[in-house]
Amino acid sequence: MTELVLSTRNRHKVDEVEAILGTELPGVRVVGLDGLPDFPEVVEFEPTFAGNALLKARAAATALGRTALADDSGLRVDALNGMPGVLSARWSGRFGAGTDSQDRANMNLVLDQLSDTPDDRRGAAFVCAAAVVTPDGHEHTVEGVLPGVLLREPRGTNGFGYDPIFLPERETRTTAEMRSTEKNAISHRRRAFRLLAEHLRAHGVVDAGA
Ligand code: IMP
Repeated sequence: MTELVLSTRNRHKVDEVEAILGTELPGVRVVGLDGLPDFPEVVEFEPTFAGNALLKARAAATALGRTALADDSGLRVDALNGMPGVLSARWSGRFGAGTDSQDRANMNLVLDQLSDTPDDRRGAAFVCAAAVVTPDGHEHTVEGVLPGVLLREPRGTNGFGYDPIFLPERETRTTAEMRSTEKNAISHRRRAFRLLAEHLRAHGVVDAGA
């Protein structure tokens, strides 16, 4: 059994990443930072998802002396030149970060900003960068992308963030209309952590049989 640290306090994220890595690398367990109250909050100031994922993975690997993983994700909107990007969580301002009301405000702001954008220019993608940092300084990042388009009205109540307005390519339902197992099977996080699993195996960070 190999235990990997995921640099997050979000229990749901730990479960989701463990489920993804578990199918790729049986025998790997993922633990978060919630048992470590003194671990300082990492300020995510980098302009890229990969940069922020590396910041978080490095912080955990350095503090704990163990191999650490991290991710950073968000929505890339073509008509907004790739924004909200790394600012997705606080696009409408810093208030109430991570709450449902902030999620709604962020989504409504993007809808307003795209109100004049025609249907054929409403391309967007959920993007997730995943990083691994080992105590001996090995660093690697990968990116998973779920392409789609943005609707004009929210649809569905599952998920979080921008899910109600995001229609993945070749799907008829938004990610907020899918069950979590359906969304997780195609998600940007799934795609990123699958690539990361390949890297961990290929570079001997975890045993091939793990
Ligand atoms: P984080 O990297 O998981 O903290 O995500 C940053 C922000 O990106 C979230 O607060 C959401 O606004 C947005 N986001 C990331 N992944 C998703 C997703 O799967 N659905 C909807 N919004 C997402």
